[in-house]
Amino acid sequence: MSNADIGLIGLAVMGQNLALNIADHGYTIAVYNRHHEKTDDFIALCRQREPSHERVQGHADLAGFVRAIKRPRKIVLLVKAGQPTDITINNLVPYLEAGDIVIDGGNAHWLDTIRREKELTAKGFHFIGSGVSGGETGARFGPSLMPGGSREAWASLEPIWRDIAAKVDADTGVPLPGAEPGKPVSGGVPCTAYVGADGSGHYVKMVHNGIEYIDMQLICEAYWLLKQLLDWDADAIGEVFREWNTGELSSYLIEITGDILGQRDPSGQGFLVDHVLDTAGQKGTGLWTASSALEQGVPANAIAEAVFARSLSALKDERLAASALLQGPEAASGHDPAELIPAIRDALYCSKICAYAQGFQLLAEAQKTYGWTLDFGTLAQIWRGGCIIRARFLQKITDAYQADPNLKNLMLDPYFRSSLHDGQAHWREVVALAVRNGIPTPAFGSALAYYDGYRSGSLPANLLQAQRDYFGAHTYERIDQPRGKFFHLDWPAADRPELPQ
Ligand code: 6PG
Repeated sequence: MSNADIGLIGLAVMGQNLALNIADHGYTIAVYNRHHEKTDDFIALCRQREPSHERVQGHADLAGFVRAIKRPRKIVLLVKAGQPTDITINNLVPYLEAGDIVIDGGNAHWLDTIRREKELTAKGFHFIGSGVSGGETGARFGPSLMPGGSREAWASLEPIWRDIAAKVDADTGVPLPGAEPGKPVSGGVPCTAYVGADGSGHYVKMVHNGIEYIDMQLICEAYWLLKQLLDWDADAIGEVFREWNTGELSSYLIEITGDILGQRDPSGQGFLVDHVLDTAGQKGTGLWTASSALEQGVPANAIAEAVFARSLSALKDERLAASALLQGPEAASGHDPAELIPAIRDALYCSKICAYAQGFQLLAEAQKTYGWTLDFGTLAQIWRGGCIIRARFLQKITDAYQADPNLKNLMLDPYFRSSLHDGQAHWREVVALAVRNGIPTPAFGSALAYYDGYRSGSLPANLLQAQRDYFGAHTYERIDQPRGKFFHLDWPAADRPELPQ
C-alpha cells in the first residue's frame, strides 16, 4: 500500500534527524538505508520515542520502499556527495515512475546537480538539489533549506519543506525558539524558498559554506588577538563573546564560541579549547567557493583566505619546525581591555560585512554564468534562521536588498556604509596592531584590503597593464581615450610611436 507522503534514503545523522523532523510535522515517511541493519536500529529507536515517530516506516528493500510512497513520489537523498549520490540515483531510477521527484539534500557540487537534473528530466523525472544547513540539530528541529530545480517539482515539495524549516519572527527576523521532539514550532516565517533552476540551490548552499568559513576564521582571529594581547584565560574571552552576542554581532557562531570558550576540559585541567590541536579540517565546500570565485573573476579574497588559513593550520609539524627558525616580534600582552575589546569588535563587524559582500557578489556573477535569477533579499531571509551563519545581521542584509534589489555591493547600502565608516578607524588599528605584534590575522587583513581596493577609484593596475604590454604585447587602454580602444607600444623605445591595436 502506498501511504507514505515522502521517502528518505540515507540514515546517517542528518538523514535520521530530518526523518524525525518530517514525522513530527504529521507526515508519514518511508525510510531506506543501504545497510538495512541501520534502518532496523533507527526504527527500533523511533518506536521507543514520540508517538509521531510511528509515522516513520522502515524498508529493507528499495522496490518496497519506492512502492510505499504516494505518487508523484518525493524521495529525499541524504547520502555522501559525489559518487555515492550517483550510485544511489542509478539504483533508484528503475523503480521510479514519470513525475516522481528526487531531492538531493547533501552538500553536492552544483555542476553535479545541473548534470543530474538534466539526466533525470530527460527520463521524465524531477530533480531538486536542496541545500540543507544547520547540522544535526537544524535537521531535527528546523534547518534552513535552499531548494533549486523545476518550479513544478518545488510546488509539490514546498508544503513539507516549509513545515520542517526553521521559523523566524515575521517582524524582527529573529529565530523562533526551537521545536521540541513531537512539538513543532507553530507560526513564523519558514527559512526556505525557491532559489532557482537546477544547481542554484546547491550553489547558494556552497556560498553559505564559504561565508561560514570566513565567519569562523574572523571569530578565531578575534579570539587569538584577545588571547595574545590581553593574556586572558579562555572563559574570560568567552565572556567577551557572550557580551558581543547581545548586540549587532549576535549570531549562532558567536554564541557557540562563547559556549566553547567557557567549556572546562572534561578530562583534565583548565579549558578544553586550550587542549584542542590547532589544525582545522575541511570537506571541500569552502574550496569550491574560492575556486568558483577565481574562475568567475570575483574578488572574494577574504573567503579564499579563510580556506588558506585552514590549509596553513594543517601544516602543524612544519609550523612547529619553522617557529624555531623564523623570527618575528613577540606579541606584547597587557593592552587596555577597555580600548582593545571595542576595537576588535569593530574590526570583526567590518570584516564580516566585507565577507558577506563578497559572497553576494559571487552569487551575482554566478547567476549570469549559469542563467539563474536569484533574489538576494530572499536568500538573506532564508539564512536568518536554522543555518550555521544565522545572525541578527542577516535581517539588515534582507532590508538592504529589499530597499534596493539591484544593489551592486552590500557595502554600498546606507546602513552597511555607515557601519564601515564608523568602524574603520578601529579596524585599521587592529590590523596594524596585529602586524606589529606578529599575530596572523589574514581574514581581517584581506577584508580590509578588499574594502580599500573596492573604494579606490585608481589602482596600480595601470603599471601592471603596461608590464603586460611590455613583455607580451597584451595592449592597454588609455585614460584619455574611449574604453575598448587598445594600444600597444614597442617597448622600450621613447621614439617609437604608440600604435592603436
Ligand atoms: C551546514 C554546514 C555543513 C558542513 C559542515 C562541515 O550548513 O550545516 O555548512 O553543511 O558540512 O559545516 O564543513 P567543513 O568540514 O568543510 O568545515
